[in-house]
Amino acid sequence: MKKIVIIGGGNMGFTYAEGIFNASIGEIEILEKSENRIKEIKAMNKMAVTNDYEVLKSADVIFLAVKPQVAPVVFEEIKGLVNNQQLFVSVMAGMKMQSIQQGLAVDKVIRCMPNLPAAIQLGATTFTCSQGVDHEEKELISKILASTGIAFEVPSEEAIDNTTGISGSGPAYIFYFMNAMEKAGKALGFSPEESKSLVVQTFKGAVQLYEDNDLDLVEWMNRVASKGGTTRAALDNFDANNLDKLIQEGVQACVNRAKELGKS
Ligand SMILES: NC(=O)c1ccc[n+]([C@@H]2O[C@H](COP(=O)([O-])OP(=O)(O)OC[C@H]3O[C@@H](n4cnc5c(N)ncnc54)[C@H](OP(=O)(O)O)[C@@H]3O)[C@@H](O)[C@H]2O)c1
Repeated sequence: MKKIVIIGGGNMGFTYAEGIFNASIGEIEILEKSENRIKEIKAMNKMAVTNDYEVLKSADVIFLAVKPQVAPVVFEEIKGLVNNQQLFVSVMAGMKMQSIQQGLAVDKVIRCMPNLPAAIQLGATTFTCSQGVDHEEKELISKILASTGIAFEVPSEEAIDNTTGISGSGPAYIFYFMNAMEKAGKALGFSPEESKSLVVQTFKGAVQLYEDNDLDLVEWMNRVASKGGTTRAALDNFDANNLDKLIQEGVQACVNRAKELGKS
């Protein structure tokens, strides 16, 4: 069994630790510096946790799940303990693979872009690999990342930035749309609870229909909206206000920002 060490047992690191643990993919150990967090993880009585960097020496896969700002400090601390045979998986937003390779003097780096629903095994993750990561290693990484939802390889770091625009930041776009619908519901006299359940169930139902059938999204819209009817009135209003274009521009603004952050 492969030994997987996760540096940083916070939100993202712990999500992966749990996913890997539940899928029994490898022997997992969390490397964490915060005493409080160590206590919390120990209290769960599930996964091994340590503050001793020596654990890195025997790892096959090392996850980098600390905030990008502290990465240079972490690199200095672990540089002498890691080696070139190990695989380094980074979930750090905006940090280029080259910075990790240089910072740790290693070759095999995988950069990935997960999203928040990974915490409930409904995550969407893309990853890209540096040269030197072979087919078998890619399969292992794909399996590890898919323990939190879906995961697939993309050809470049540019595609990682593009992922940020769709699925990385995407949950916030969905919450934005849901929030607007909930506000409209309340304005129409529904209680907050009623408004929430109508919106949540509508999203769930629409997603399930789309996922389980071959119809495309325009066909699904047409199924709900008949000519001259109520739904068409709403969709025509969205179109008149260029909502479709605004959403696409929002996605592009997100991607541009991801690229900018990657340069700094
Ligand atoms: N949260 C998300 O939805 C999300 C999505 C995509 C990508 N990411 C990426 O995931 C990474 C982690 O984010 P997060 O939200 O999980 O952060 P977080 O909750 O702050 O977790 C980071 C953990 O690492 C610990 N740590 C700091 N320095 C350490 C060291 N030298 N050795 C070992 N552990 C150390 C921190 O302890 P202290 O609290 O004591 O500093 C903290 O417990 C970030 O790079 C972020 O860009 C997050």
